[in-house]
Amino acid sequence: MSLSVKHLLGIKELQTQDIEQIFQTADNFKQVLQRQIKKVPALRDTTVVNLFFENSTRTRISFELAEKRLSADTVNFSASGSSVSKGETLIDTVNNILAMKVDMIVMRHSASGAPWFLAQHVDASIINAGDGTNEHPTQALLDAYSIREKLGDLKGKRVTIIGDIMHSRVALSNIFCLNKLGAEVTVSGPPTLIPKYIQDLGVKVEYDVKKALQNCDVANVLRIQLERQHKPLFSTLREYSLYYGINKDMLDSLQKEILIMHPGPINRGVELNSDVADSANSIILDQVENGVAIRMAVIYLLSGKTALGE
Ligand code: CP
Repeated sequence: MSLSVKHLLGIKELQTQDIEQIFQTADNFKQVLQRQIKKVPALRDTTVVNLFFENSTRTRISFELAEKRLSADTVNFSASGSSVSKGETLIDTVNNILAMKVDMIVMRHSASGAPWFLAQHVDASIINAGDGTNEHPTQALLDAYSIREKLGDLKGKRVTIIGDIMHSRVALSNIFCLNKLGAEVTVSGPPTLIPKYIQDLGVKVEYDVKKALQNCDVANVLRIQLERQHKPLFSTLREYSLYYGINKDMLDSLQKEILIMHPGPINRGVELNSDVADSANSIILDQVENGVAIRMAVIYLLSGKTALGE
């Protein structure tokens, strides 16, 4: 049991069978997580560092929990409070950490491509926990896994990704992952937030959000990433919410049930109203729960271990 890659840098580099193997392994770990003792000794000889150069709540906690559930030793690094503020480079930072006998690196960085750069300079396996506007592979894996859990095989399932597609690493990784699994992907949102090249990735574009919702089984709603928008791309958040925000009236008007997803953090009242985020249609907290099993599976499969040691 192993993946075709040494690192998990992006979904783009994965084979479909890698994704299937991650899902099957996550199925086993989900069972472990239902037990009273939610732990296996598989990685008790492995040390993982979580290198976060950018803020995170879900991904960081989820990776740390996944590592602990696998009995790995974990070390957490935040750029703030570190010697990065004194000018230390990424490579020097990582080589100093690796000198302390660390086996695997989980990294989030604001620069697109940072994990690929690191992979050329160090021997340890690297897991990309989100790089700039490029990829967030474990988010896409847990998203696809959560759809599969609710709706079965993804082949032919219609998934609409709504919102700030332009600045979203979640959108790009989801597109790669859903395409590999045979789902039909549509993106929707304001034209200023949908890149012109997007159709080249094998997705449809529907600027009318109501039509996009009407024609999907799953809506994955994305956060408006104001921190990455260096010029105004829509008038006001109120206007965005009015034309592109998802509310209960819109869902009720569909006269069918669809799944609502969001990678978090949610801007409540902007891209998603609370009456949708907290509704029976929402599987947002299922996504978070599944994130731990998916990350356990990724870490375990990249470690090259062959037994859970239960
Ligand atoms: N989904 C996600 O990446 O959330 P965080 O930024 O809180 O990790």
